[in-house]
Amino acid sequence: MCGIVGYTGGRKASEIIYEGLKRLEYRGYDSAGIATLSGGEIFVGKKQGRVGVLESLIGGLDGNTGVGHTRWATHGKPSDVNAHPHCAGKFAVVHNGIIENFAQLKERFFCGVEFSSQTDSEIIVRLLNEFYDGDLLSALKCVADVLQGSYALAVICADFNGLAVLKKNSPAIIGYGKDGNFVASDCPALAGECSEITILEDGDIAVVSQDCVRIYDGDLKPAERGRIKNLATPASLELGDCPHYMLKEIYEVPASVERTCAGYFTVEKKVSEVLRGIDRIIIVGCGTAYNSGLVAKRYIESFARMPAEAEIAGEFRYKNPVITPTTAVIAISQSGETADTVEAAKLALSLGAKVIAVTNAPYSALTRCADAVVPVGAGPEICVAATKSYTGQITALYLLAKTLAGVSAQASFEKLSVMPKLCIQTIENIDVSTLADMCARSDGAYFLGRDIDYAVALEGSLKLKEISYVPSEGYPAGELKHGTLALIDIRAVAVVIITDERLAGKCENAVEQVLSRKGKAVVITNVGGLEKTFEGRAEVIKIPKCDMYLSPLLSAIAVQLVAYRTALLLDRDPDKPRNLAKSVTVE
Ligand code: F6R
Repeated sequence: MCGIVGYTGGRKASEIIYEGLKRLEYRGYDSAGIATLSGGEIFVGKKQGRVGVLESLIGGLDGNTGVGHTRWATHGKPSDVNAHPHCAGKFAVVHNGIIENFAQLKERFFCGVEFSSQTDSEIIVRLLNEFYDGDLLSALKCVADVLQGSYALAVICADFNGLAVLKKNSPAIIGYGKDGNFVASDCPALAGECSEITILEDGDIAVVSQDCVRIYDGDLKPAERGRIKNLATPASLELGDCPHYMLKEIYEVPASVERTCAGYFTVEKKVSEVLRGIDRIIIVGCGTAYNSGLVAKRYIESFARMPAEAEIAGEFRYKNPVITPTTAVIAISQSGETADTVEAAKLALSLGAKVIAVTNAPYSALTRCADAVVPVGAGPEICVAATKSYTGQITALYLLAKTLAGVSAQASFEKLSVMPKLCIQTIENIDVSTLADMCARSDGAYFLGRDIDYAVALEGSLKLKEISYVPSEGYPAGELKHGTLALIDIRAVAVVIITDERLAGKCENAVEQVLSRKGKAVVITNVGGLEKTFEGRAEVIKIPKCDMYLSPLLSAIAVQLVAYRTALLLDRDPDKPRNLAKSVTVE
C-alpha cells in the first residue's frame, strides 16, 4: 500500500524523492506528492495519478530536505486534495497506514473545524501543529500517544532542517547515503543510494539530519537498532528488455525455484528443530499466499500424514482458533508485511504455537516475529500480481512438508532439481493466445481442477480477475454440476487443469459438461491422450510431464501467462491493476 520516502542531505531533495517514489509505485498509484523545505518554508506539489504526474512539479520544489508519498486510497477517494503530503502550520506529513480513531480525535481536538481532505491522515499533521511548542520530539511523542491504528510517518518541520519519523504497525526504514540520510517504506526506494539501512521497530521515533540519525523508543529513551545491508540493487529492479514486470517475473520463475531450493539447505536444521513434536499444522496467508497454502496443505497431508488446515489470515484472527502447544502455524507472505498475516502469526505465537514464516522479505515484520524463517528465493517482485513468489512459495512449502515427513532436503532435491528446466520449457513452448482471446471475449472464466489442480485453479482465477478484470471463479471440477453449471453458456470459458492421471477421467467429465452446455473449454494438462479425446472440441495446452506434486510449478506458469495475455488484449496495465497495491499493510 502507500509508499513514503524522505531525504535530507546535500542534493535537491525533490529529485531524489521522485526517483525513490518511482521504485515504490507498486505500493499504490492513486496519487503522488512531495513537500520540500527551503529557507524555513515548506513547498508542496501533489496530484492525483501515478508518480509520473510529479515530473513537471519537481523543478519548482527547492530545498535539500523533503518527504514524498505514493498513495493507495483507503479513506477518501483518489484526488488532488486527498493526496499526501498533508500540511498544517509549520508541518508537512506523509503517512502509510490507517488512523483508526481519526473521527474521535477530530471531535476531541478540532470540533467544528473544517478539514481540507477526507483522509484519516490529515488529523496527524493537525495534531502535530496543535502539540508543537518548539520541541519537535515531545510533539511527536504526544501525537504517538493519541494515535490508534497503523502508521509510518515522515515529517518535515519548518524549524528543523531534517526529517522526523514515527512507526507503528507499518514498515519504515532509515537509509544512510553518501551525502545525506533517508527514510522509506521499503528497501527498493533506496537502491543505489544506501548500502546500509536500519529497520525501525514499533513505537520508534527517529530524528534524521544530514549527518546524524537518532532513534528513540516509545518512552523517548535512545534506542540501538543496528545497521544491515540493503539487498535491493538498481539492477534487481530494472525491467530490462521486457515490456512488463509481470512477464519479466514469469521468466524468473525457474530462478526462483532454484534459489529457493538453495536457500532451504541453510534453514533445514532450524525448521526441523521447530517442527519437533508438532502434530498439527495451520497455514495462514492472503490472496496468492493463501492459494499456495492450499497446495501446502495437500503436501503436508500426503507426505507427513499430519492434519493440516489452510486459513485466510484475516479470518483466522477472528475465529478464536484452536491452538495447542503441539500446533505449528506456517505464515506465508511475499512481502512479509501483510497486516492480516503478520497479526495472525502474532496471535498464534501468543496462543503458544510455533510459527514458521515463508517469505521473500528477510527483514520483514513477519520474519522478526517467527520461530524459523524459510526464505523464498524469488527476489524483488515489482508487478502487483504475484507470479515468481507463488512458485517460490510452492517450492519452499514442498521442502518444508518433506522435512515434516522426515525426508532430507538433499533427497527431496532430486525431484526438484529438474523443475527449473521444465519451467523454462513451459515458458518457451506453450501457446496461450487462443485461451487468452477466449477469456478476453468471455463474460466469465471458470477455472476447474481436482485436488492440487483445484488449488492452482483458484490461483489462475485470482490472477485473471486481478489484472484483466474478467469475472472469474475457481471451483473443484466435481462441484461444477452442483450449481456453477448454471452460468455456463456460449459466452463462458472453462479452464480445466488436469495433471493427475488418477483424476483425469473425472475431470474429463467436467469438460464434457461445459461443452454440452455450449461453453468453451480449454484443458491445461500433462496427461497423455487428452488432445485426441477433445480433438476439434476443446483446446488442449500441453505442459511437460513431471512429479505429480510438483505440477503446480508448471500449471501456474500457464495460468499466469493466460492472465497476462488477456490483460494485454483488453488494454489493461498488467503491472498496476486498478484499485490494487502490493504489500497491504492495513487490515
Ligand atoms: C495476487 C496478490 C495478492 C497477494 C496478497 C498477499 O496476485 O499478489 O493476493 O498475494 O495480498 O500478499 P503477501 O504475500 O505480500 O502477504
